[in-house]
Amino acid sequence: MLGIGAAAVLGAGAVAGGLPALGRLIPNGQPGLLLSSKVPLPSRYAVPLPVPPVLKPVRADATTDYYEITARPGLANLVPGRQTEVWGYQGMFPGPTIESRSGRRTIVTHTNELPHPTAVHLHGGHVPHESDGYPLDLISPLGGGSGGAGGNAGMAGMPGMSSATFAPQRQYVYPMQQHAATLWYHDHTMGFTGPHVYRGLAGFHIVRDEDEMALDLPQGARELPLMIADRAFDENGNFAYPALDPSEGRPGVQDAYMNGVLGDVILVNGAPWPVAKVDRARYRLRLLNASNARRYRLELDPQPPGGGALVQVGSDGGLLARPVAHDGIELASAERFDVVVDFARYPAGSSVRLVNRLGSGGTAEVMRFDIGSASVSDGSRVPDQLATVEQLDPAKAVATRTFLFAQSGTSWTINGQEYQPGHSLAAPKLGQIEIWRFITDVHHPIHLHLDPFQVISRNNAAPGEYDAGWKDTVDVLPAQGVEVAVRFSDYAGQFLLHCHNLEHEDMAMMAEFTTE
Ligand code: C2O
Ligand code: CU
Repeated sequence: MLGIGAAAVLGAGAVAGGLPALGRLIPNGQPGLLLSSKVPLPSRYAVPLPVPPVLKPVRADATTDYYEITARPGLANLVPGRQTEVWGYQGMFPGPTIESRSGRRTIVTHTNELPHPTAVHLHGGHVPHESDGYPLDLISPLGGGSGGAGGNAGMAGMPGMSSATFAPQRQYVYPMQQHAATLWYHDHTMGFTGPHVYRGLAGFHIVRDEDEMALDLPQGARELPLMIADRAFDENGNFAYPALDPSEGRPGVQDAYMNGVLGDVILVNGAPWPVAKVDRARYRLRLLNASNARRYRLELDPQPPGGGALVQVGSDGGLLARPVAHDGIELASAERFDVVVDFARYPAGSSVRLVNRLGSGGTAEVMRFDIGSASVSDGSRVPDQLATVEQLDPAKAVATRTFLFAQSGTSWTINGQEYQPGHSLAAPKLGQIEIWRFITDVHHPIHLHLDPFQVISRNNAAPGEYDAGWKDTVDVLPAQGVEVAVRFSDYAGQFLLHCHNLEHEDMAMMAEFTTE
């Protein structure tokens, strides 16, 4: 496949030279349709921000930390007068946070006590195929045995399911040969990632390293992971999801929602519109958009004098070379932005909201920070130089490949094809730089497994404001062409490339590439 042209990949010469401008545009911002809750909504700013507990290893040896996680149903108090059943890692939504040290292997054994099969993916992890949470490498539901029984009978009808394997438990081995970064783990079950993540199967996995720790960024209680996700509730107070088939016989959502499911309640770390009490000091906020489809433009309201409230220090794949100050940050599903906010720029005792400029009504609000009035010490800083970030040189690329993300009837396709397990669209060589071009019809947040990439252009112009650093998910806007430079390394095997709008993903907008 080396040196193959974009036109050959697309067939029929659809792309020659520059990126084509596709005609179809979705008029306004959101990729999806709002599902309205059937119960009275919780009041805003009434509950404290929860911070997911950090999971303790069950044991550790010279090279490795071992963890055990069971996915099971749990109950959460999210809406007035009712309890919500969540599907959570350890029964919690979000799941517990795993913290790894770069260079130290992490092994997580996952067990499944949910009524359906699951697979666990470490998003942003540099991991071999066997531990990547490949959607057919399934963990059987409790008492489920293999393929035909225990609530997964319906899956048998999906393409490629004959090669699915079911295990009562899986051990995921993460070498952690990667820099400090904010990763997250979530469900990746063939055809049912959307409903599973929506029910709560997501958690943070933070990688730390010495270089980052030497920087004196805010830490401890002044480092907050913020998992932002929208949800809607049914009349019983459970999460409402417009599945085509709630018994999971058939993947996907009802036609009206095929663009994406948007909820009317914004949860941060699983709590509706929470409040965090903060000191007048710098905080590191690890922002993760864990929504199925919703995009956000996050801003602090009010802005501090002089603006630039959100000082970005990291992207999906770790630290930026230098900090970048933003008034607002736009993030699509699965993207992470690591920012430092200095609440000392606000008056003592004041409150500041984190708002979403792409929402309206309740979805325009996210959470609130109540700033203390005591004077506190703050030994943190944001240095001008954060890290040395290698720049992948596009001139050294050995291949350019084009991937067209577009709707086709009632499914979503890549290069005109629905996901077909075992069918590879590209065979990149390990260690070599390639240029991958992503072309869209509507919004698609595009994610690559195995290695991060660097955005080199948008519509043949410079990368956007939110494209800096190592990315593993890029927010491609309607009718855009984005080029990234990528270099896969270390692990030969099958990996995934897909849209991270989870409704699009489940409705076939996924493909495989095979590194060799
Ligand atoms: Cu966050 Cu393949 O996924
Ligand atoms: Cu998509």
